Formats: sequence, structure tokens, C-alpha cells
Amino acid sequence: MKNILLIQSSPRGSESYSHKAAQSIVNDLEQRYPDAKIVVRDLAQNSPPHVGQAFVGGLATGPEQRTPEQTKALALSDVLIDELLASDIIVIGVPMHNFGPPSTLKAWIDHVVRVGRTVTYSSQKGPEGKLKGKRAILVLASGGIYSDGPAKPFDFQEPYLRAILGFIGLTDVDVVRVEGVAVGAIGAEKAVASAMARSREILAHVV
Ligand SMILES: Cc1cc2nc3c(=O)[nH]c(=O)nc-3n(C[C@H](O)[C@H](O)[C@H](O)COP(=O)(O)O)c2cc1C
Repeated sequence: MKNILLIQSSPRGSESYSHKAAQSIVNDLEQRYPDAKIVVRDLAQNSPPHVGQAFVGGLATGPEQRTPEQTKALALSDVLIDELLASDIIVIGVPMHNFGPPSTLKAWIDHVVRVGRTVTYSSQKGPEGKLKGKRAILVLASGGIYSDGPAKPFDFQEPYLRAILGFIGLTDVDVVRVEGVAVGAIGAEKAVASAMARSREILAHVV
């Protein structure tokens, strides 16, 4: 049985291109694996807080010594990490906000990248991600074109997400772009059609 985790982060909900394309990928996966367990985490509707003093203090303190406030601050982090560890396929819908992912997704990342839980350090190996053997599909939506051309150096979505997911061991990452939705010569229709074609390509090699 496959466990699929769908993470949505667009505040535009069901109007959103990343939301719709990510949902459509999960629908296709569900057809392929009818007994799949699907967990949906909508970071726009239910945003994780920014990490604060209690969170950071809790990280530096053993579980037994944590104050009630520190324990409370880390509780959501544990839930989000458990969701990730339990999943086989992670689909993440990401709107581009000011050249990068939205702040809700960054807050989620700050909760799930955690020494001892999703990454370990050793003097011999250095950092080692714990999320090995999983597959991630990123659905990146943007008004402009960032996969190539003059705006490519401004793409802080794909390189950042690949780097941070790789840091916790998620290196099997495919990307679907719904890009150019605000570019006259492309427009939403072509961007969505291209994203659907790319999704089919990716799903064809999902085992
Ligand atoms: C706060 C905000 C910032 C944005 N910044 C960018 C940007 O830097 N580059 C870009 O091409 N589009 C930008 N856009 C446009 C969105 O990327 C575009 O509307 C995309 O469709 C959002 O994804 P969604 O449809 O999944 O919400 C921005 C939109 C918002 C609301």
C-alpha cells in the first residue's frame, strides 16, 4: 500500500494552478493505487507558525528537560515529520511568491528539517538525510517563465526546494511547472496543458 502526502501551499485554494495540478497528480496516483492512503496538508488554510524562541530553545533541549512551552512548540513539528516519514510519495503544490516559495511552505520546512529526526550528523559522514527511498513531485506555478530564459537566475523555488529536500534525504524529485500563466504569449491554458503533459510523463515512470 502506498502512502501519499499532498502538501498544498497556495492561498488561492481551488482557483490555484499549483493546487489543481498537484491535486490532479494525486487523483491519478489514487487510480493507480486504489488502496493508497492519502494525507492532505493545506499550509495556506492551516499555516504552521513561524519558529520562535520556544521552538528553538526546545530543539536545543532534551525531551525530558523541555519546558511545557517548548514541548508545545515542537508538537506540530513532530506531527509534520511523522507525516513525511510515513509517506512514500510526496506531492507539493507551490505558487511562486516573490521568486521563491510562499512563506507558509518555508515555515513548514523550518518545522520538518530537524536534526535527529530528518537529518543526522556524524563526524565521518557529516549531514545525512533520513528520508531515503521516497519520491517527491513538485508542482511549481508562476506568472512568468523561470525554467529557461532571462528570468532563470531569479528562480529561487526549484533550486532551493531541491537543496533543502535533498538535505533531508529526498533526492528523487520530479518537477512539473505551470509557468507563464501571466505571460500574454503563453497564458494559463498553454501553461496548464504543458503541466499536464509533464505530469503524465512523470506518472509513467512512477513505480
Ligand atoms: C504575493 C505574490 C507574489 C508573486 N510573485 C511572483 C513572482 O515573483 N514571479 C512570478 O512569476 N509570479 C509571481 N506571482 C504570481 C503567481 O506566481 C501566479 O499567480 C501563480 O499562478 C501562483 O500560483 P497559484 O496559481 O498556484 O496560486 C506572485 C503572486 C503573489 C500573490
